[in-house]
Amino acid sequence: LATGFVKGKGNLSDGLSRLLTEVSQGYFQPNVGGETIPVAQGELSDLAGDEPLFKNLFTWFIQSGGVYKLAFGPKAFIVVSDPVVVRHLLKENYDNYDKGVLAEILEPIMGKGLIPADLETWKPRRRAIVPAFHKAYLAAMISMFADCTQRSIDKMTALTESGQEASIDMEQEFLNIGLDIIGLGVFNYDFGSISTESPVIKAVYGVLKEAEHRSTFYIPYWNLPGAAVLVPRQRRFRADLAVINDCLDGLIAQAKRTRQADDAEALQQRDYSKVTDPSLLRFLVDMRGADPTDKQLRDDLMTMLIAGHETTAAVLTWTLFALVQHPAALEKALAEVDTVVGDARPALEHIQQLPYIAAILAESLRLYPQPPILIRRALGDDVLPAPLNGDQNGYPIGKGADLFISVWNVHRSPHLWRDPDSFRPERFSETNKNEGFEGRWAGYRPSEQRSSLYPNEVSSDFAFLPFGGGARKCVGDQFAFTEATVALAMLLRRFHFSLAGRPEDVGMATGATIHTANGLKMRIRRRHAPADPSLPASEAPKLQQQPVAV
Ligand code: HEM
Repeated sequence: LATGFVKGKGNLSDGLSRLLTEVSQGYFQPNVGGETIPVAQGELSDLAGDEPLFKNLFTWFIQSGGVYKLAFGPKAFIVVSDPVVVRHLLKENYDNYDKGVLAEILEPIMGKGLIPADLETWKPRRRAIVPAFHKAYLAAMISMFADCTQRSIDKMTALTESGQEASIDMEQEFLNIGLDIIGLGVFNYDFGSISTESPVIKAVYGVLKEAEHRSTFYIPYWNLPGAAVLVPRQRRFRADLAVINDCLDGLIAQAKRTRQADDAEALQQRDYSKVTDPSLLRFLVDMRGADPTDKQLRDDLMTMLIAGHETTAAVLTWTLFALVQHPAALEKALAEVDTVVGDARPALEHIQQLPYIAAILAESLRLYPQPPILIRRALGDDVLPAPLNGDQNGYPIGKGADLFISVWNVHRSPHLWRDPDSFRPERFSETNKNEGFEGRWAGYRPSEQRSSLYPNEVSSDFAFLPFGGGARKCVGDQFAFTEATVALAMLLRRFHFSLAGRPEDVGMATGATIHTANGLKMRIRRRHAPADPSLPASEAPKLQQQPVAV
């Protein structure tokens, strides 16, 4: 690997390689400890090739096991693909780890917002923010989820006027829905991105693109003296950031100015029917007014804007991509939506009765985890437990070790899942105790034995962790699942979707999330509601009296 790096194979030129070698001295930590960890045989040029990083990490996982090391010169990072080791890192010994490289990449964008924050900053902010995602808040959000989806439906209805077929990039549509929802839900700001394009929207997409560029570009050249001024994309990035920061500062100032005792009282009671502005910002200002500095509040808002927008849009994109290629699953989904929701606006009671939609979203998150890799750095020495498959001994690692938790690998591990690469939502109703692992891994529990509708890291003992796990688990998981369920149910009810090209044409690219390389180009036409009397019986979706069991 070191040789490949210095020689600059593949699409790295010699000159660039030399530059990268020098600059990388400030990036990954020195190769600390972990001498007993298997070293993957690869080339750094593989990492810079056409394939997304996580695909190469998978190949090495199959060759080298659940814990392996990629070393280049004096630097290294450890790749973890095993649920027992992941459980150790995220839950059992979480306070020995911070976000390392990720915090360095994100600092200029999110400062010390909740995702990149060091543990000391993170603790009080987490305590302040988690209560904001109360069940009553979600209930207050659900009609807004439907309103924002309806904007897209109106646009698509206009496109398919008089019943003709139309073409649309559904990935962009999901991004628009996601942006409008996160703007309204987090700071009561209507981006209106489904119908307009404003400088703020352009700036959000610009900053997202840069966050993505930084998380896939392995060397932080933007830290070099003068890069912010000399490199055009860095100048653009600074300008975009200033636009969003101004917007957020304005919203914070406004929320403070318009603070009302009545609203604060109603929020205290979680009575959202009496609150004029149910956004998270309102909650944080009214309930936690004295706690944070404005900069901290802005960092947290920016974090949630970025964390909650692209992720949910990516889930919807890959869900639709998978569904149109699996007619049996699509038919079951349609039957469930038609029976439970029909033409109504989805409400919280409906969500609980859509177990097949829940399983579809979970299966999409299993195959396309957002983000595919979680990043950690050890704050002190530690011993990683032995992975389920491989060495029987644990691995001592040193303070400063950089770790990549490959959720992609865990979710597609042939040691944990039957047919790991196939899209099969029904798998979440199966049990896997995997007796061979002698009690070290509890396996996963089927739907009827789970407390929540959606499978998660608890019911799978860290084999399925779409929202991470342990202390730093996603705070927006229920928000995201509910949003995705509402959007999917409403769109499936109203339109037929089919791919405009071949599945391979969609392509895959990665940044903070996995997205398509070329957009999700689809053909749409209006779907006849099952009650439509003009519809020939054979074409009518079959109605079932009960929600479809998973
Ligand atoms: C953390 C995934 C939606 C806010 C995380 C983490 C994951 C994740 C995997 C853990 C990161 C780590 O351990 O390094 C997702 C997915 C989403 C989603 C797949 C959509 C399907 C949201 C939404 C919000 C949000 C809607 C906010 C409105 C956050 C925050 C954290 C986080 C603030 C940091 C928590 C902490 O460190 O305490 N998310 N997320 N996410 N997510 Fe999400």
